[in-house]
Amino acid sequence: MLQVGDEALDFSVLFLLVFGLSRSAAGSSLLTASLYVFVVMFRFPPVPADRAGRVLRPRSLSGGVPVVAHRGGGHDAPENTVAAIREASRNGATGVELDLSFSSDGVPVLMHDETVDRTTNGSGPVSKLQFVQLRRLDASARHRLKDRFSGEKVPTLQEAVQECIKHQMVIFFDVKGQPDKAASVLHEVYKKFPVLYNSSIVSSLEPKVIYKMRQTDPSVVTALTHRPWRLSRFGDGTPRTLSTWGQLWTGLLDILLDWAHHHILWKLCITAYLRSFVLLDYVQYWAERGVEVVGWTVNTAVEKDYYQNVLKISYITDSLLEDCDPHL
Ligand SMILES: *[C@@H]1O[C@H](CO)[C@@H](O)[C@H](O)[C@H]1NC(C)=O
Ligand SMILES: *[C@@H]1O[C@H](CO)[C@@H](O)[C@H](O)[C@H]1NC(C)=O
Repeated sequence: MLQVGDEALDFSVLFLLVFGLSRSAAGSSLLTASLYVFVVMFRFPPVPADRAGRVLRPRSLSGGVPVVAHRGGGHDAPENTVAAIREASRNGATGVELDLSFSSDGVPVLMHDETVDRTTNGSGPVSKLQFVQLRRLDASARHRLKDRFSGEKVPTLQEAVQECIKHQMVIFFDVKGQPDKAASVLHEVYKKFPVLYNSSIVSSLEPKVIYKMRQTDPSVVTALTHRPWRLSRFGDGTPRTLSTWGQLWTGLLDILLDWAHHHILWKLCITAYLRSFVLLDYVQYWAERGVEVVGWTVNTAVEKDYYQNVLKISYITDSLLEDCDPHL
């Protein structure tokens, strides 16, 4: 998995860069050497390739590439609910992507946003509502198919996991933050349902979450999520800040983050990259490093065809049934 050639090149570039700026051979050697030791020390053993393969390349019934329903398939059913998992399974998804969150009293539940306003009939931050309060909400209240799915509840993590196991669905746990809490809760769930080691993956935009998960339980398959220009632009492409300096600065940070993803962060020994806008040479670049690429969010028949027949890689979609706009 480790590319020695790559590594020598990366550290040489770093050395030259620091030397160019500092003009101190001793200082640059010391900095490069400490970073090298840091990377080596904090590298976790890779998950065996056959296990990663079971998670990322499950047999799909249609013989096509694996298809994962984003938030359980938020276009076809209320997102992050047990009904969505059931629906996704019925419509031929091989897996579901689910969002981990916590109620104010620490119960792990599924919720994408920080507040319950967009998806339920309640309002306020999830982290300020007790589990009993969350449980009283109607999780289908704002969905276009609310009549069909009326009375759907906000599920606990465990209820969702059990439903997925029942349907033999692969789970992509998306973790937004709270690395320590998330890693310890997920570790408990893996111990309780060991089949998850063969059928789920933990993913995050935050390298710290993946680091913590790998540290807590190196047997868990993990992925980093990466969206180019994430710091400077929203999901729909509009700039996050209107000031020119702000745009320049966040754009620069984006370039640094991109570089870090490709040269340092992946050495946490992740097994997959979840990423938007995928090209074939990108898939090959990572395949040579033993890393799978999974595309998101792929919502039109034309794009699905491209993933299925050109890239031949899994993708995450909001609908198994029809073209739809991305749920950002
Ligand atoms: C939301 O809907 C549920 C189910 O219909 C109902 O019991 C609950 O009182 C509603 N909550 C609010 C805050 O409107
Ligand atoms: C994972 O799958 C392999 C191969 O089918 C099997 O030998 C192993 O026991 C499974 N592990 C768990 C925890 O279910």
